Amino acid sequence: MTILDIIEKKKNKQQLSKQEIEFFVNGFTAGTIADYQMSALLMAILLNGMTDEETFAMTTAMLNSGDVVDMSALGDTVVDKHSTGGIGDSTTLALAPILACCGVYVAKMSGRGLGFTGGTIDKLESIPHFDTALSEQEFFDVVKRVGCAVIGQTANLAPADKKIYALRDVTGTVNSIPLICASIMSKKLASGADTILLDVKYGSGAFMPDPQSALELATKMVAIGTLAGKRIGALITDMQQPLSDHVGNALEIVGIIDVLNGKRNRLYYEIREVALRLLALTGKYTAQTAEQAFQRAIDSGAALDKFAEMVRAQHGDESYIYHPDKFEIGQKDCVVAARDGYVSHMVAADIGRAVTLLGGGRLQKSDAIDFSVGVIMAVSLGSYVRKGDVLCEVYHNNGKGLADAKRLISDAITLSDQQPQPHKIAYAYVGKDGVELY
Ligand code: URA
Repeated sequence: MTILDIIEKKKNKQQLSKQEIEFFVNGFTAGTIADYQMSALLMAILLNGMTDEETFAMTTAMLNSGDVVDMSALGDTVVDKHSTGGIGDSTTLALAPILACCGVYVAKMSGRGLGFTGGTIDKLESIPHFDTALSEQEFFDVVKRVGCAVIGQTANLAPADKKIYALRDVTGTVNSIPLICASIMSKKLASGADTILLDVKYGSGAFMPDPQSALELATKMVAIGTLAGKRIGALITDMQQPLSDHVGNALEIVGIIDVLNGKRNRLYYEIREVALRLLALTGKYTAQTAEQAFQRAIDSGAALDKFAEMVRAQHGDESYIYHPDKFEIGQKDCVVAARDGYVSHMVAADIGRAVTLLGGGRLQKSDAIDFSVGVIMAVSLGSYVRKGDVLCEVYHNNGKGLADAKRLISDAITLSDQQPQPHKIAYAYVGKDGVELY
């Protein structure tokens, strides 16, 4: 078997065998297959696709390229959720303590932001002294004691994905459904949770442009997770505008504290939807008892206390959770409406890019993050504004990136005379028994 034969086969739209897939995943990870050959193969996969069997074989080969975390020592249900990425998506930060209050373990490994999307780990590191690199033993201890912990991905979790993703990022081969599926599912299966909820985003701030392609991706991921013996479901959710009004690192923590203090906004309703689906998936809750447990966790203040407890257990300064005004936030400027009208469209990715220009995200992996910058949206899709009204508050650090960020945000928000259709939080849920439309 040679890599050239495998490239030719995929170029000619033939199905690859499990052995061929293991050969190129293992060879590329070990460095015996060159970048240029792997690039050609990835492009052939992007153009000609993969069957479900091929996607499963690729996921399994990538999963087995590194450590597989064993959570069985926790002795009870361990849940995980994964978002395909977006703008202002800070749901994990609230879900972890809420679900812990509902009696399930949340042992979460999260990523950093790159490009226009934010990362949970960067957001958590805006809390002074918060440690996202606990040893495996300490991570387990915190989960056992507190019920939840969030750390960065360990170095040896699906190393094949790290190498392949880095190559896809620079060869125009990111937006392939089988490649995204194998990338996400190899990491999820290696992370060791038994119950998994995938949050697959579509829209102007997501990899998937429309609900149909998001549904196709979700269906494949649920099929693979089910084959691997997990309790798994996927929500298809809207990313046509930032999910939280607060976008930026420290600002998103402030937005989450608002939700845990009872604020009802789009972020709250999405968190609720994900939490109820996850609790039902565990088999410990019915739809009704899940809703009661969720509401109790928020209304009693227990989820906010649990968040503070997790921060303290991970060596962070919990006083920031009770006094969010302690977060250092940049100087304020504003983007205002150039005319009267309804907010009819947003290029959500450009709002993420604007935060990156201010210093709140990375263009390269080695870039340092400025936790203090970001934006607070004053409008959402369907809002009516008059000329001169504030569309968005922009928090900057001594003007760095400000002019470009403001221009980008202003161009990203379309005002028109037509009121748009109302936007639903979720489009569909995919479970092992099929699709439920909202
Ligand atoms: N997120 C991942 O982890 N992998 C992809 O391929 C796309 C999004």
